[in-house]
Amino acid sequence: MEPDPRSQRQAAAATARGPEPDERPRSIAIIMDGNGRWASARGLPVADGHREGARALRRTVEAAIDLEIGSLAVYAFSTENWARPADEVGSILELLDETIDRELPDLARQGVRTRFFGRRDRIPDGLREKIAALEAETAANDRLHLWIAFDYGGRAELVEATRRLLRDGVPPEDVSEETLAERLYARELPDPDLVIRTSGEQRLSNFLLWQSAYAELVFVDTLWPEFGEEALRAAVEEYARRARRFGAR
Ligand code: IPE
Ligand code: IPE
Ligand code: MG
Repeated sequence: MEPDPRSQRQAAAATARGPEPDERPRSIAIIMDGNGRWASARGLPVADGHREGARALRRTVEAAIDLEIGSLAVYAFSTENWARPADEVGSILELLDETIDRELPDLARQGVRTRFFGRRDRIPDGLREKIAALEAETAANDRLHLWIAFDYGGRAELVEATRRLLRDGVPPEDVSEETLAERLYARELPDPDLVIRTSGEQRLSNFLLWQSAYAELVFVDTLWPEFGEEALRAAVEEYARRARRFGAR
């Protein structure tokens, strides 16, 4: 039998770095893109695309539970998305409100811990309270950690972390990758092993700029409302074929 090149590579890596690398991503981040194109291809209002996108999120979270992914971070709304028409922004806020009421409690029963990261000061008061309540109610869950990026921008996050360093009076010689990372919006969010973007676009659009330094990137043509278990599995399989090097020989 031909030796499997992947096991050879793993064996080499194991010799170089100690234990065999895990081929499964523990932490996945998804840029959920393509709701607008999904809706316009069907002659539907954009809000319907976002609604279908929320269904895709539900399916994907359940698939991530089955695949035993520890952490899933999803990009729901960027700092730049406020520039969209007011009725579209309104429909996204409304949908988030409904999702917290209808979908996330079901997921909580399946052991999902949900946390939001990003700016909170521009979210309407009632919604901000619902977010805090959901985070508190699911704090003891541990089956899947779901992180929802809302009013999130990677640059804004780094600016805010810098402000926190200054406010905390950290002297320049103590500024390090660790002291900065501790001041990101969500210090417990693990760096993603794998970042998936749907809809064929191949860019990060300001998502997890710091945390994705060594992430594997997978771009798929599927529009977000059509994403689900099969597409997630395919991305995880693609990840397993990659050789991560982290700069080492
Ligand atoms: C992603 O879908 C959802 C958000 C950015 C809120 P889009 O609405 O960006 O979909 P396209 O890119 O217009 O198709
Ligand atoms: C990125 O998608 C933001 C989210 C998926 C929430 P966009 O549709 O806003 O990104 P661009 O404008 O195509 O870069
Ligand atoms: Mg888009």
